[in-house]
Amino acid sequence: MARSGKDEHIELDRALLPRHVAIIMDGNGRWAKKRGMPRTFGHKAGVEALREIIRHSDDLGIEALTIYAFSTENWKRSAEEVGALMGLLLEYFTRELDELHREGVRIRILGDIGDMPRGLERQQRALYDAMARTKENTGLKLNIALNYGGRQEIVHAARALAQQVKDGKIEPEDIDMARFEGELYTAGLPEVDFLIRTSGEIRLSNFLLYQLAYAEMYQTDVLWPDFDRRAYDEALLAYTKRNRRFGGV
Ligand code: IPE
Ligand code: IPE
Ligand code: MG
Repeated sequence: MARSGKDEHIELDRALLPRHVAIIMDGNGRWAKKRGMPRTFGHKAGVEALREIIRHSDDLGIEALTIYAFSTENWKRSAEEVGALMGLLLEYFTRELDELHREGVRIRILGDIGDMPRGLERQQRALYDAMARTKENTGLKLNIALNYGGRQEIVHAARALAQQVKDGKIEPEDIDMARFEGELYTAGLPEVDFLIRTSGEIRLSNFLLYQLAYAEMYQTDVLWPDFDRRAYDEALLAYTKRNRRFGGV
């Protein structure tokens, strides 16, 4: 009988791995629905999957991991779902922060966390605390896109540069790609090499619109709570076989 290969270890050539992986963690709701459970049950399982993927990224020596946790459009969801998601997030940070810190993980939040609805002050503080505590760490750069929108990020950068011109700090012709990138939430991070989206959807949903210019894309039907080390290794293996040309030949 042919072996499914499910248990076989995937050997990855570390020299070929992406420096910066971005993930759209999608499918929590459908995962829960399939089990006849409320959507928040899926989010809970999703946090566990995230935990494993962070650890594995660290083990593989990946330099940066950027995950899409909550978009500027996700506020459209019910207050109950938004509240549960934020609660899970706070719980995750309080529960895991010590360990992530020990591992040398540096946490950065991408998105407008100053502009969160009232009632989320505790979550806000937990996020600021996580960033401040891990600021000097030199291990995995873990970036959590939260209240994040790619269009908003670009507009935010444009506005910051316009202000600098107005204040006489720079001239319009000083605005080049490097300066523009310096105003994005991802300033200082390596180029995004690889984008993974789970759950079968093939769209960006307002994620890293500027940064994904030359990223390799990968989609899988696996729902986020089922996305484990093995599924991640499969994705990374696919990446190592890509031929990136960047417009050349
Ligand atoms: C992704 O799962 C998690 C977040 C957007 C926070 P979804 O909640 O979008 O799950 P589906 O896409 O409805 O299955
Ligand atoms: C994108 O997923 C946002 C996150 C994963 C946080 P959505 O589920 O919100 O995206 P759409 O609505 O399917 O485009
Ligand atoms: Mg979704």
